[in-house]
Formats: sequence, structure tokens, C-alpha cells
Amino acid sequence: TSRRPIIAGNWKMFKTLSEAAALVEGVKPLDAVTGGVDVVVCPPFTALDRVVGVLRGTGIAVGAQDVYWEDSGAFTGEISPVMLKDIGCRYVIIGHSERRQFFGETDEKVNRKIKAVLKHGLVPIMCVGETLAEREAGRTEEVIHTQASAGLAGLAPDQAGGLVIAYEPVWAIGTGKTASDQDAQQVIAYIRSLVRDWYGAPAADQVRIQYGGSVKPNNTAGLMAQPDIDGALVGGASLEAASFTGIVQAAH
Ligand code: G3H
Repeated sequence: TSRRPIIAGNWKMFKTLSEAAALVEGVKPLDAVTGGVDVVVCPPFTALDRVVGVLRGTGIAVGAQDVYWEDSGAFTGEISPVMLKDIGCRYVIIGHSERRQFFGETDEKVNRKIKAVLKHGLVPIMCVGETLAEREAGRTEEVIHTQASAGLAGLAPDQAGGLVIAYEPVWAIGTGKTASDQDAQQVIAYIRSLVRDWYGAPAADQVRIQYGGSVKPNNTAGLMAQPDIDGALVGGASLEAASFTGIVQAAH
């Protein structure tokens, strides 16, 4: 297929403004070598505007790590899709396991956020993934099915096709334990089959599905060689320009 690989860096709650500016200056030269790969950086909210400014004129895109689903209103502490679009964000991570675990994110909220983001022409990166206990209990597909069916409910087929989905097994996040290429491929192929069942073959062929969880420069190529793995959502290794650059180069 002709799906374009997509590598996204999720900086999580790291980087002050000056640190973010320095990191993205280090990432910027990637623009010269990204031919054929979409590259996205997702800084904390406080650094988004600055990072967009540094990357203006390059092909490197910027994403947020969360969003609220209303356009505006009395929702203290929240950020709307309108605000993200206004400053030049193009992607939004939705439903990361850390938000599910620590901040009460539910599949229903994920679904509302995805619809709100799509309404404003932003691209959701929807995260799904099982915990270690769920995997050991043989419940991986059941958990993925639940998260994906609720998260993706009620979309148009072309909207589903335009999404990015990140499969992140919770036990692989920040642990140094990557899923094997085969295990990641198996679950990602299952996710694609679900999109096919719900939204048809064109959407399933188009939707880009990333793997996330301890992705490093030295394990990227093996993951990317799998037929259904279209990219990576990178945490720790996106916090330094050298390792993030190495991952993007290995994704070609
Ligand atoms: O969003 C990124 C993931 O949670 C992966 O984090 O690369 O540090 O394991 P990690």
C-alpha cells in the first residue's frame, strides 16, 4: 500500500519554553531528510506556539497532547480545538494511556474529542492499548475492540480513513520493553481489520496505525518493516534531537 509513514514525538510533561525551543532547533534539520515520512512533534501546551514558530516553513508538523471537545466556554483549565487550530497545530493526541490512567479519560470522552478535532480539520492520533494484566489474561483483543469501537463510533468512512491510531501496549511505555515486531504487527493488523469491518476497505487501507512503547533508533526499522505498522509514537526517545532524528531516519 501507499500509506505514508508517520513518526510523532510525544514530549509529555517535559521541557520548559527555552528547553523546548532548543530541542526543536535540533529537530528542525530533519526537514531536509524527511522525504516520504511525516514528522510531528507534540510539546506541552505552554511551548506549542513557540515550536510552531520555529518550524514555520518546514514540513515538520506540530501536535497537542490533549484537547477539550467544546469550541469555547466556561471550562476552566481546558484548551479547545479552535485554539489549537488558531496557533497552527495540525495533530492532537487523544486518549493516551496516561490520561486514561491518571486523569479519568474514558472511551466516551475520547470519542467526543475525536469528533471535535475532526470538525476543525485537525488530525486525531487516537491511542489504544492493553495493560500487562490484560495481556496475560488473554484479553488484548477484547480491550482493543472496546477502546476502538467506542472511540471511533459514529465517524464517516473518510474521517476514519484520515485518522492516525497509535497502538501502545501500556506495559511497553517507558519501560524499555518493546513489543516484539510480530506482537505489534498482530495487534495492529487486528485494529485495521476492525476499521475494515466498521468503515470498509478504503478506510482500512488508508488509516495509519503507529506502534508506541519504548521505540528507539535501533528497534524502529524492524517495526516499520511489518506490513501494517505505519509509524511510531515516541515518548522518551523524542526528548533528544539525536535519538528522534535516528528514529525518523530508520523509518524510511
Ligand atoms: O506516547 C508515547 C508513548 O507513551 C511511548 O513512550 O517511548 O517513552 O515508551 P516511550
